[in-house]
Amino acid sequence: MEIINDIHGIKAVISKIKSNKTPDFLSESEANNARNFHTTVKGYKATPLVGLNDLAKELGVSKIYVKDESYRFGLNAFKGLGVTYAIAKLLCEKLGVEIKSINFDYFKLPEVAEKIKDIVFVTATDGNHGRAVAWAATQLGCKSIVYMPKGSSLRRLQHIKDAGAEAYITDVNYDDAVRKANEKAEEIGGFLVQDTAWNGYEEIPNWICQGYTTMAVETLEQMKLDGVTRPTHVFLQAGVGSFAGGILGYLANKYRGKCPITTIVEPEKANCIYKSALANDNKPHSVTGNLDTIMAGLACGEPNVVTWEILRDFAKAYVSCPDYVAARGMRVLANPTGNDEKVVSGESGAVGLGLVSLLLEREELKELKDKLGLNEDSVILCISTEGDTDPVHYKKVVYDGKNQSIF
Ligand SMILES: Cc1ncc(COP(=O)(O)O)c(C=O)c1O
Repeated sequence: MEIINDIHGIKAVISKIKSNKTPDFLSESEANNARNFHTTVKGYKATPLVGLNDLAKELGVSKIYVKDESYRFGLNAFKGLGVTYAIAKLLCEKLGVEIKSINFDYFKLPEVAEKIKDIVFVTATDGNHGRAVAWAATQLGCKSIVYMPKGSSLRRLQHIKDAGAEAYITDVNYDDAVRKANEKAEEIGGFLVQDTAWNGYEEIPNWICQGYTTMAVETLEQMKLDGVTRPTHVFLQAGVGSFAGGILGYLANKYRGKCPITTIVEPEKANCIYKSALANDNKPHSVTGNLDTIMAGLACGEPNVVTWEILRDFAKAYVSCPDYVAARGMRVLANPTGNDEKVVSGESGAVGLGLVSLLLEREELKELKDKLGLNEDSVILCISTEGDTDPVHYKKVVYDGKNQSIF
């Protein structure tokens, strides 16, 4: 393990790939099952893979791709992929049917709808996941209850209510809001649909991770159409790590010993994956307290215990970033170079590209750039996991220059 210490607040741990044992639940065939199911969900369409060719040229690499998840199911974020798949798997289990034999509309058949109509889904969220749970539950004629951490955006709360949930902003942080949701589900006999795993609660979050693999499957198909065989470098942002673990687990299965060089990116005040890598004892470690960051979707202090092992074993670097890195990413994507397309990317969506832009541009970060092997042949993939989910804050950053870069 090597440590790169504090370059304008950016810190990194570089590690060796630790295992050949890829996670079976994120195999290519599991990913194909999820993708096939998603194609049956109303409004399904592959989200755009935007090639930022002029930015790549300017920054001296072969390609920079940004997968734009703001287009996913009209929800402005990627989370609907995990929720639809996990809820469908859960209902299939209850109804005694195989997911491969049904589609999303199966649950709307009158005789099936009658059986599931009293089900209540409960969750905690910093916004995007809860909105997706509310949206999916409403489509299935079920009820949903959603808890948000203190300080959550009122606009995000409203989106969740508009999608049909009973929703509250609590006075606790994200991880405690998850505990609250769990208690509520037990109290009312509902189902907790949480996008993180802990010991004894793994099945639903693993289904959620399987749902996320659809982004990777689509991306590789889209790259092929652009004449590119695969990414050499992937930057994945992490809250609890389910998103990053889902994508990296799939890539590790697909490419076996030749997985793309993957960097996990987190906000400095909620850097539980970075802290776990730094501890170097193979175990997940938590960050507690306010988890104060503009990257609301990444403001989680306790790693998913299942995906932590994937991130530990298959990622190359773990980078802790101050908020200005995300803000820079939002502005770079909002102000495209040359003929590149604009991408509207929110705080948690843009931090990966923000880091890439600094790594490739700033001499101070050259050591990290070299350790990652970034050069003129690199094909870089970032996933913009949300659009302007807090439009007021988006404008403060993009129009007013909030969270200015300190380079
Ligand atoms: C926009 C966005 N990006 C990334 C993430 C990170 O996902 P995870 O918590 O699975 O690491 C989230 C989680 O809420 C999110 O909302």
